[in-house]
Amino acid sequence: MANRQLSHKVADLGLAEQGCLKIGWAESRMPVLMALRQTHAARQSLKGMRVAGCLHVTKETAVLVRTIQAAGAQVAWSGCNPLSTQDDVAAALAAEGVPIYAWHGMNVEEFYWAIDRTLELRPTLTLDDGADLIFSVHNRHAELAREVIGGTEETTTGVHRLRAMAAAGALKYPVIAVNDAETKWDFDNVFGTGQSSLDGILRATSVLLAGKNFVVAGFGHCGWGCAMRAKGQGANVICTEVKPTAALKAVLHGHRVLPMDEAAAIGDIFITATGMKDVIVRRHFEAMKDGAIVCNTGHYDCEINLKHLDELTVSAREIRPNCDEHTLADGRRIYVLAKGRLVNLAAAEGHPSEVMDMSFANQFLSLIRLAREGRDLTVAVHDIPEAQDQELAGWKLRTLGVGIDQLTPEQIRYRDDFASGT
Ligand code: ADE
Repeated sequence: MANRQLSHKVADLGLAEQGCLKIGWAESRMPVLMALRQTHAARQSLKGMRVAGCLHVTKETAVLVRTIQAAGAQVAWSGCNPLSTQDDVAAALAAEGVPIYAWHGMNVEEFYWAIDRTLELRPTLTLDDGADLIFSVHNRHAELAREVIGGTEETTTGVHRLRAMAAAGALKYPVIAVNDAETKWDFDNVFGTGQSSLDGILRATSVLLAGKNFVVAGFGHCGWGCAMRAKGQGANVICTEVKPTAALKAVLHGHRVLPMDEAAAIGDIFITATGMKDVIVRRHFEAMKDGAIVCNTGHYDCEINLKHLDELTVSAREIRPNCDEHTLADGRRIYVLAKGRLVNLAAAEGHPSEVMDMSFANQFLSLIRLAREGRDLTVAVHDIPEAQDQELAGWKLRTLGVGIDQLTPEQIRYRDDFASGT
């Protein structure tokens, strides 16, 4: 039965009022999504849809959840990372009647339990950040896939995995790669990750960044954002890469590029942003300076091999929230932030609302597209239409009070005339 009553499980309903204030703060900084809410609440564009979501429970996500509901859909939600849930926000959503299963510090078993609860909604649409919900539908609840019209995916790691699934013929319904929209990854991944990752590092350590050797593993969009912001704080940025073009970009951005084997010995702060496992392993810990700080901003917690560090550790203790001190046999201390999970969401609040405004506008418009045309889409990973990107960017600019030029008819003719030359 589609409409069965789902309940909720959160840490403390008593935090609801505080969460509600936070959500209101985010709403005041997400004008594009709020305008979409108004339009599609009137049209009831998602009426009849059942949306299961698995995405970090933050104040910005709550704005998205409220918007999906306002457009007429039923919703059930879980967090997509055991350490990223903001308990006050989860409480506020639960108090509003949202079937939400999320609390900070859940273990892996509870994580999948929470996803399973949201699947009791028998979704027609799935919304993912990291693809754990889609994988659960495909691998553990395959009987539900028939009813799913389509899904959306928020993050680079999730999109990579889903493209691999599609290539192997294993994907069972169409997915829209929200991550690959220009208005998502050129903004959220760069400016969002840059600011929120440094925010997480500072909340967990309060160290001075100026003059530090700040090692960024991976110079994709997320690494680029972290490097840019660390440089802006006066750090000496060192990038490590495996891809020649990315390494070259880092060089031309003015960063030093080194293999991790060399960077390990000189870094003061390390952040991984690669989407790859085992970026920092035993030999790197063995080379690190006393006091080195290590953290990750990639989706999964496999980039720093904490098992290797544990094997080298003679004693460990939490010395501040989200900051664990590992003492090695020779007395050197290495500090791990947020247990190697996303430092920007576990130790801070994730990307600022202003950036998530565009990411979640893309999520919301993608759900509407799937509700309208999903049954006609091929079972593949689909991109966001270019027109949507330009429309959203134009909208965002107007909310910022920024005007731009327009091509004249003559300029358009010139642009389209392949014969004109010198
Ligand atoms: N991913 C990164 N920042 C986020 C935020 N503020 N809300 C939800 N997902 C995020």
